[in-house]
Amino acid sequence: MIERSISSRCLNPAVIKIRLLQIGDIHRGMPRDSVTDIKDRLFPAAIASQTTRDPITSAVRFAVNLLRDRPVDAILLAGDLTHQGDLANYEQCVDHLADALLGEWCKANSPAFCVPGNHDIDRTKVLPATPAVKVWDKFEPLEEVWKKRNLPIIATNDVKTFTIKKGNAVAEIMALNSCLGCGEYRGLPDDLKKAAHEMVASAANNDLKWTAIEQMDSPAFSGDHIDVVQQKIDGERKVNVVLAHHNLLPQATPRAALYAEVFNGGQFRTILARNRTPTLYCHGHIHDDLIEVVTNPGCPACMAAISAPLLDMGFNVIEICYTIDGVPLGATVQKYKVGKSYTFFQQPEESRIPFCSAGDYFRIFDHPPRAQMISAIGSGVRFPALLDKLNKDHSALTEMELASMVSEAEWHGILGILNRERTPQFWQILRLTP
Ligand SMILES: [Fe+2]
Repeated sequence: MIERSISSRCLNPAVIKIRLLQIGDIHRGMPRDSVTDIKDRLFPAAIASQTTRDPITSAVRFAVNLLRDRPVDAILLAGDLTHQGDLANYEQCVDHLADALLGEWCKANSPAFCVPGNHDIDRTKVLPATPAVKVWDKFEPLEEVWKKRNLPIIATNDVKTFTIKKGNAVAEIMALNSCLGCGEYRGLPDDLKKAAHEMVASAANNDLKWTAIEQMDSPAFSGDHIDVVQQKIDGERKVNVVLAHHNLLPQATPRAALYAEVFNGGQFRTILARNRTPTLYCHGHIHDDLIEVVTNPGCPACMAAISAPLLDMGFNVIEICYTIDGVPLGATVQKYKVGKSYTFFQQPEESRIPFCSAGDYFRIFDHPPRAQMISAIGSGVRFPALLDKLNKDHSALTEMELASMVSEAEWHGILGILNRERTPQFWQILRLTP
């Protein structure tokens, strides 16, 4: 049973945290190298297969245990649940996720989202493009699989939205389909299109279907969906969380292919990066745990693209931090990674993404208590001594109010906090900027 509440381990009560579990590509059915080192080739294969841990099962089990101890507020699945469009594998993957993680979660009305990946599309369902064929038809089998299990967490021809509110903190979640053009046929004459379709439909195996020459993998968002997101991201004091399968920035691996990147990804990225509220763009597809931040000079927020790796390699827990007044401060990405034999490391590697700069701090928080706090710190001070000093010289501050102010300044790069993982009484505060 996964509970939803503010984590009991959140030792800094002056910061509100909204936590998200981000699961990347799963590719159930993809051939994987065995982790069992078999030197004896005559060793019974049936026994060998039983000794090998299944990476997907191990990862989901670790995530479930982790969430029991440190709950999250939403679960994000970035697509590619199956490999090469195999619907049977997609169904098995959904069954596994439903039993182990999502069944109980969704029964409690907790938010979960899934988006299609390019590998989820069965290319035999993509008919030769004619005006009568709808480009959305190929996604219907995926929606059906989730609906049949009473888990309607995917919307392939719509933007699925949800607002998380925790105290004054707000996160706007938007899940959308980036696979609009995946698997579609090129604009060949009708007879060639038909022949190409027949070739794909009759291909002896998935590898042949997947590499059939007259198919294009041209990832794209619907313009209407981008419009919906553009309307939603407007506002004050909130963080936008956009979930889609494909990355918005060109991938690290050079790729000689037509439409290797999302057709209108640049347009979408510009809209997100120019917005005045921060956006976390959560994706999979690249099978890596890369984080890329796009800032726009003069704009008080940023867009951070956060990739979750192949589930075999781990997953992310994203913690969005706000002041108790609901001002977004930044996000940490905790990367839970796999060691040998699919054993997860208990301590995640952590990356911090501040939403604002030091200059923004004095613009946003331009009022006397903060200026007094900065000058009272000097080069460094313990938290209890700082509280005493400020309360002796100025108006009364509670421990919570001061801890919130210190945390704001830390996220803006003005202060450093030693012992941040402990309660504020143990903090040693250092001034980082002159
Ligand atoms: Fe993938």
